Amino acid sequence: MDQQPIIICDNLVKIYQLLGLEIVALQGLDFVAMPGEFVAIVGASGSGKSTLMSMIGGLDRPTSGWVHVADYELTKMSEKELNDYRQREIGFIWQHASRNLLPYLTARENIQLPLLIKGALNAENQAYIEQLLDLVEMKERADHRLSELSGGEQQRVALCVALINRPQILLADEPTGELDSNLAQQMFTTLRRLQRELNLTIVVVSHDIEIARFVDRVMTIRDGRVATETLKQKNEVADGDEGDGQSEHEQEGIYEELGIFDSAGSIHIPDEFRERLGIQRRARIELVDDAIIIRAVANDDETTLQTIQQIRDKKTEASVKTQDNVLERIYQKVTTRLKNRKSIKGK
Ligand SMILES: Nc1ncnc2c1ncn2[C@@H]1O[C@H](COP(=O)(O)OP(=O)(O)O)[C@@H](O)[C@H]1O
Ligand SMILES: [Mg+2]
Repeated sequence: MDQQPIIICDNLVKIYQLLGLEIVALQGLDFVAMPGEFVAIVGASGSGKSTLMSMIGGLDRPTSGWVHVADYELTKMSEKELNDYRQREIGFIWQHASRNLLPYLTARENIQLPLLIKGALNAENQAYIEQLLDLVEMKERADHRLSELSGGEQQRVALCVALINRPQILLADEPTGELDSNLAQQMFTTLRRLQRELNLTIVVVSHDIEIARFVDRVMTIRDGRVATETLKQKNEVADGDEGDGQSEHEQEGIYEELGIFDSAGSIHIPDEFRERLGIQRRARIELVDDAIIIRAVANDDETTLQTIQQIRDKKTEASVKTQDNVLERIYQKVTTRLKNRKSIKGK
């Protein structure tokens, strides 16, 4: 495979300023997607999913790191260039996308509107609209007013509008947020079909874990970093049946969840693993023949206290207050824990 990635995010950091506070939404996130890939991004609320989408979509700029999409280096572009980029290359759909549609126009009219405004509603584009309506299975309902359509149907119309400029990439931020799980799965099937038929690259954010069955790869984000990646191992049958109706439905793939190292060499270890082994802040890391073993360190709490004391000793006047408070809180917590442990032992 000598194909180049279509999306590359390298070491993205995004810090929002809010009421004088710094909120770190992305902390060194790396992300790559190949042309025509269908990737899902999952993660808890507030983990940075939407922030990542707005970086890829050129809606906002990272604090540091860079974003390269198709032939565009987004971090170097002016507002006007970003605007052109969004129009040309990106289709957007989100939870309330149908709110941007006009309730008194029919589905087809809503889809035609952007082209009508541009004076580009020619025969070729009309044919494209019919193709889109067909792909989202809305051909029969196309002459109904938007207000007469169900939420799921309205979302399909919004999908057509998102694709009207024939973008290469579709960014979908919780497009099924307001749909029940049955309709959500229908939506994922539709996205899969669009990806295949239009050769789209799709990045979809969802909290519906069922999405794994429909996509090529699932990326879990935690605290603004990629935590794990689940790859679908393509089985031969699924690979060979392009165009066969069955292939766009759920495929029983084999999944493998992989940990991801970020650019700083950090990797996320599931909390439950650490809790089970009593690993807190420090761990002993050993390289054996074909594995790395991570073990709990005895007396970890005492070591933590020593480290905090060392940081305190070294601290300069210029150090940030919040950092001070965090340090203080850890110190108090560890001291209490140690006291409790000693009093238990003493009994
Ligand atoms: N415009 C903003 N101003 C300040 N903080 C923001 C802004 N957008 C997002 N955040 C914060 O950044 C973090 C990540 O947010 P977001 O990317 O929306 O997460 P997700 O989509 O995974 O729920 C959250 O803590 C959120 O509160
Ligand atoms: Mg979000």
